[in-house]
Amino acid sequence: MSRRYLLWFAQEYLDFRLAEMQSILSMLKIEIKYVEKSYNKPYWIVELPSESCIKKIASRSVLIKSCIELWSSANTEERLHENLKSAMKNDSGKWIVESVTGESNDNHICHSSLLTVCSDPSKSFKIEVETFCKHFSMKEKVEKIELFSYLPLEGPVKLNNPDMKFSYIEFYGVDPNNVPKQPEQLFFGRWIVDGQRDLIQALSLKKRNFIGNTSMDAQLSILMANQAQVTMGDIVLDPFVGSGSLLVAAAHFGGNLNICYVWGSDIDFMMLHARTRPTRK
Ligand SMILES: C[S@@+](CC[C@H](N)C(=O)[O-])C[C@H]1O[C@@H](n2cnc3c(N)ncnc32)[C@H](O)[C@@H]1O
Repeated sequence: MSRRYLLWFAQEYLDFRLAEMQSILSMLKIEIKYVEKSYNKPYWIVELPSESCIKKIASRSVLIKSCIELWSSANTEERLHENLKSAMKNDSGKWIVESVTGESNDNHICHSSLLTVCSDPSKSFKIEVETFCKHFSMKEKVEKIELFSYLPLEGPVKLNNPDMKFSYIEFYGVDPNNVPKQPEQLFFGRWIVDGQRDLIQALSLKKRNFIGNTSMDAQLSILMANQAQVTMGDIVLDPFVGSGSLLVAAAHFGGNLNICYVWGSDIDFMMLHARTRPTRK
């Protein structure tokens, strides 16, 4: 049975989102079904054969922030809660999708088998609230969390390193100058895995001893390594290597043993020997 996931993206480099995903999917030989794929919204809804597929994709993607096993999606708060309550009774083993006013307003109701993880009393949990294009105070977020009290969550609440994390997301559109009173779309599901956003800091130019004026930004370097489908055992040559940012990202994807060989050449001898005027000391 394929599972439905919400991919929550960083709202940047929108032009590279599909390219990064297609490269990762073809490199990992994973078949995906796009249920909803918009260009400018920070989320896609997809179907994949298993949880391990979404984990593999997230282990490479720098544009994905997090991946959530979708349990319910709706265009009003009331409807989202109704859907979740219906999900508890949906024994069909299938998703129920009701179209309200077009594709983006579909109501997604999951099958009850997904919710069985809730009822394990030995598993601690927490519910996280994320809002896009609107800010809420902690008190308001707690009030939203309390509305989920009907869920059969048996385990204890644990805020640090819980066994299970649930995500409640309210999406208020993408125009910060025209934020609607009510969210356009709402989602609830079980958090599965984060993407590789931390890698941007880990490979940041700020951490390097020597960079040049044209050093490639870390996020773009990671994106390019993904588009080149760099993986363990590959040999990567950057003929215009400069201070080597692209190769740093490529080498990272060589795996823990770093078995990815990288070579560079450059016309600028001083650059290759880090003797141009240092931009950082
Ligand atoms: C944009 S920078 C390279 C950035 C680098 N790839 C990175 O990952 O940060 C372009 C580099 O190309 C080098 N270059 C320009 N013309 C070249 C040529 N004809 N042959 C080799 N290198 C050249 C420059 O010296 C410069 O270091």
